[in-house]
Amino acid sequence: MAETERPERIRLGPPDMLDGRTLVPVTVGGHHLLLVRDGERIVAAERACPHEGADLLLGRCVGGRLHCPRHLASFDLQDGSVSPGWSFRALRLFDIESASDGLWLRMT
Ligand code: FES
Repeated sequence: MAETERPERIRLGPPDMLDGRTLVPVTVGGHHLLLVRDGERIVAAERACPHEGADLLLGRCVGGRLHCPRHLASFDLQDGSVSPGWSFRALRLFDIESASDGLWLRMT
């Protein structure tokens, strides 16, 4: 698909799809992601930890950070950077738009 034909956003579901939950798994184009509620903000993140692939759905979100359940590294939900002492790459994050017609993953 040509770059100009790519949709700018993809609808994930209804606006209330987190329904009070902090972490909700979604699959987009075959990629496993997590919707993460951090206060009023919702962001999408890759579901597998970039360290050894632990399922971040089993982690927890506290104070703007997503904590991995396996080795307890945590990721800043603003830029994906990992907590001090770790040397692996940042967690990939994706912007979420919350609208009256649903939650949308922004592709740009
Ligand atoms: S697998 Fe996540 S910190 Fe090691």
